[in-house]
Amino acid sequence: MTVELAPRRRVRSFVRRERPLKAGAIAAYDRLWPRFGLSEATWADLGRDQEVVLDIGFGDGEALLTMAKADPRRHYVGVEMYRTGIVKVMRALEEQSVSNVGLIEGDAQAVVAGIADARIDMVLIFYPDPWPKARHHKRRLVRSPFLAEIARILRPGGLLHFATDWAPYAEEVASLVGQHPDFRENSEGRGDRPVTRFERRGQKLGHDARDLRFQRRSVEQTYGVETGLVSAVPPVLKT
Ligand SMILES: C[S@@+](CC[C@H](N)C(=O)[O-])C[C@H]1O[C@@H](n2cnc3c(N)ncnc32)[C@H](O)[C@@H]1O
Repeated sequence: MTVELAPRRRVRSFVRRERPLKAGAIAAYDRLWPRFGLSEATWADLGRDQEVVLDIGFGDGEALLTMAKADPRRHYVGVEMYRTGIVKVMRALEEQSVSNVGLIEGDAQAVVAGIADARIDMVLIFYPDPWPKARHHKRRLVRSPFLAEIARILRPGGLLHFATDWAPYAEEVASLVGQHPDFRENSEGRGDRPVTRFERRGQKLGHDARDLRFQRRSVEQTYGVETGLVSAVPPVLKT
């Protein structure tokens, strides 16, 4: 007798609680999405011929917009589930004539899985939902499998910048990434990360921001060629 197992549901890092959009926002979405939205068919091409910064869970897009405007040489791609935020940022992109931003609507775990290897120059994860209760920790976005996917899509030398004001989450990520062979710690510091409403809210509660930055090692670094631990990298592993 064969026993059919039900497919396991993926644990999600978000809960859909969004109120329906008002008519004006629906019209803005329909008008602006063809201009700024990236369809699933394009994910695998990201980073093929330009430098890409991926902002995961951009919320209202405050940081995305500010950073993209200050850095027009690179293409910024924001990933978000929350349509109100998508509409808000598209309106701002149009008003401020910003042309180096594309948006993806969807679950970042599926989006990242659709991106080709070693194509992204920087991944930003700012103020991800902290899921403070122990029984919800499994919902945190940055866990080992997702981290492995981020290592896969980053180019050698690329950066992961993670920021939170939830100290236990910062500790968890520092430890997870610290143990990951593909990353090495870069300088800690906010760099030019803009302050967003989530940070302002935390500041009022007395929470300090913590920025963690990690650099994607090259295959040679991971396998110790630099340090002489091994004499050659298997050719199939060269990126
Ligand atoms: C606390 S907000 C932070 C927003 C923004 N990064 C900032 O610093 O202002 C976290 C955002 O992550 C989004 N999010 C959570 N899980 C996600 C997922 N799996 N894929 C895409 N977005 C996600 C949520 O919808 C929410 O807007």
